[in-house]
Amino acid sequence: MNSNITTTPDTVQGAEHFIMLSDEQAEARIVAARAQLGQRAVLLAHHYQRESVFRHADLTGDSLKLARLAANTDAEFIVFCGVHFMAEVADILSRPEQISILPDLAAGCPMADMADLTKVERCWDELTHILGTPDTRITPVTYINSAADLKAFCGEHGGIVCTSTNAPGIIDWALAQREKVLFFPDQHLGRWTGHKKGIPLDQMAVWDPDLENGGLTPEEIEHARILLWKGHCSVHQMFQVEHIRSWRAQHPDGWVISHPECNLDVCRESDYVGSTEFIINTVTAAPSGTRWLVGTELNLVSRLAEQLKPQDKIVKFMAPTVCMCSTMQRIDLQHLAWVLENLANGNIVNPIRVPAREAELARTALTRMLEIP
Ligand code: 13P
Ligand code: SF4
Repeated sequence: MNSNITTTPDTVQGAEHFIMLSDEQAEARIVAARAQLGQRAVLLAHHYQRESVFRHADLTGDSLKLARLAANTDAEFIVFCGVHFMAEVADILSRPEQISILPDLAAGCPMADMADLTKVERCWDELTHILGTPDTRITPVTYINSAADLKAFCGEHGGIVCTSTNAPGIIDWALAQREKVLFFPDQHLGRWTGHKKGIPLDQMAVWDPDLENGGLTPEEIEHARILLWKGHCSVHQMFQVEHIRSWRAQHPDGWVISHPECNLDVCRESDYVGSTEFIINTVTAAPSGTRWLVGTELNLVSRLAEQLKPQDKIVKFMAPTVCMCSTMQRIDLQHLAWVLENLANGNIVNPIRVPAREAELARTALTRMLEIP
């Protein structure tokens, strides 16, 4: 850690002094703090960030791209405008002297919270009773949208992490190690990926962590190739196949693109399915004059629609109602000004530090993922 930096509480300016700022005032203080910090701080932002924050990012991306960027930056401070698990990954993959910062600690991912270590360990014990030794029969795969201790669990048990970009390659890897996969916490990403791999739906059983043996019989567990944790993203469950059908009826020449956290029917009815970065790249590269229906978070879709207007492309949000990732929204100009100004003054606020042993095991699972082409 830099010797000029202190975490002494009484030198820290409290967030309450910043909450009251107007956007313009916060903006001016961000610009001033960044000028003072220079190359010492890098600002990473996920595509779901609100536009006012996104504009300040040095680097943007989906979860996989951001993980790689965090692993490769030389900056002393990685200010992560995203959600908690992303800042944890940045801490795990960066060097020990680098510090990952989340401007608002309440910016979590509700889907990630649908699996926790206690429940996953209980699941593993129950599988031990039914299958004998799960460590030789099941590869645990955690979506990157999960807490560091679940990544560590995967690292310890021969498992791996996946993202919405690389899930198909990771499932291939996992099934090459062992005959079955335990996939958590997003059943929809797991189901879509298994479906694309040609695994029949009856061989993908849903594991309900609140029921004994996941609510499955020993025969169903034996029959399954993928056990899908009963978790989901509420934002992506707002998109329904009816939205696609009624839009296609009006625009038969239009294209539909969705994120794989959407349900299987939505993914099946879409022309393209992929990560946030894939969605942006695909629509951006499409010929001018094309029309798109997009099934992912609203901030991304609104930004894309604005950017592509000059190319005469029409980009429309899939759901008829507003649905945003409310936790991503927690990062605003005021919180960003708060952390940056404190950093510029030598105070670290909201550092994300994963305990050493947990980080080491989680790094094992993340490194396995990053090594797969
Ligand atoms: P991406 O990795 O595709 O950006 O997805 C992250 C996420 O949380 C989607 O809801
Ligand atoms: Fe989590 Fe869904 Fe928000 Fe993505 S959109 S961060 S999965 S709650």
